[in-house]
Amino acid sequence: MLILGIETSCDETAAAVIENGRTIRSNIISSQVLVHAEYGGVVPEVASRQHLATVVKVVRQALRDAETSAGQLDGIAATCGPGLVGPLLVGLEMGKSLAYAIGKPVVGVNHLRGHLAAVYLDHPQNPPPPPFPHIALLVSGGHTSLFRVEGQASTTLLGATRDDAAGEAFDKVAKLLGLGYPGGVVIDRLAADGDPHALRFPRALPGREDLDFSFSGLKTAVATWLASQGRPPEDELADFCASFQAAVVDVLVRKARRALAREGLRDLVVCGGVAANRGLRQALAAAANEDRFTLYVPTSKLCTDNAAMIALAGTWAIQRGERGTLDLSVDPGLPLA
Ligand code: KG4
Ligand code: ZN
Repeated sequence: MLILGIETSCDETAAAVIENGRTIRSNIISSQVLVHAEYGGVVPEVASRQHLATVVKVVRQALRDAETSAGQLDGIAATCGPGLVGPLLVGLEMGKSLAYAIGKPVVGVNHLRGHLAAVYLDHPQNPPPPPFPHIALLVSGGHTSLFRVEGQASTTLLGATRDDAAGEAFDKVAKLLGLGYPGGVVIDRLAADGDPHALRFPRALPGREDLDFSFSGLKTAVATWLASQGRPPEDELADFCASFQAAVVDVLVRKARRALAREGLRDLVVCGGVAANRGLRQALAAAANEDRFTLYVPTSKLCTDNAAMIALAGTWAIQRGERGTLDLSVDPGLPLA
């Protein structure tokens, strides 16, 4: 079964072909990051235009890399939300048009469902795929949530951020430090050489016993620190980044452990762009060792936005018999049903 996935929910134009719900035949990602960097964040209208200019090329390249053609596909999956409305429309309309032309099914995929599926894609370093049910920590630029995942299409939300997402906190702090956009990966790189105990930033554990998150207080603490002390000199930047990163990672790890304990489960999936963070990966691996649970993390390229994860979630939907119609539309605030 060959499924083409299309992902355009934010600022990556991506297309991928996967085979039999596991093997990645191609995975093309065209990033708009340089276009938006000039503005310090994603400009939705610019993103839409950029997707429009790129999507056909990206889909063609995905088919070429997979050594296949549109006619050989068994179906098409495109992200239909949540995300930016204009960008989502470009990808979904592309998917619907192509599906109509080749007479094959099309399905709309929830972007979060894609992130949760990414760990099931084949890659050599991973242990066997996680069993159901398991706990998933989804940490991205738009979401920070803990789920109990019962099956391919069945999830219960256990907790979520009450304000900023973890990735958003990384990006905002990077911006305050003048590290450019998106800054998560820059903080990660600098933090690797820094001392996480150099500065003590607040760990917000709202409600303590619950599984919600809050990162706006941490962002304010960083902003206040910078306003009073000024930007740290170059040789102290690594310590600053490591200390900030540790504050985010601590809370994520603590809540993930609590979720596993509360639900009586022993398998933890971490996904979304922030799952690429090396500090988070290391801290979770240490926790897994201590608490004796199994940790599953997709490769970095499958943590950040990509279309292979959309193709996989789409494969599952098509296998369940889901079929989109041509009036299928996008929903920028699409919940994970
Ligand atoms: O999943 P994703 O690609 O897009 C959304 O669905 O939001 O996540 C993007 C977010 C951005 O905030 C980015 O700064 C963050 O993930 N990110 C990282 C790292 N790589 C990406 N944050 C920390 N460390 C990283 N290595
Ligand atoms: Zn995402």
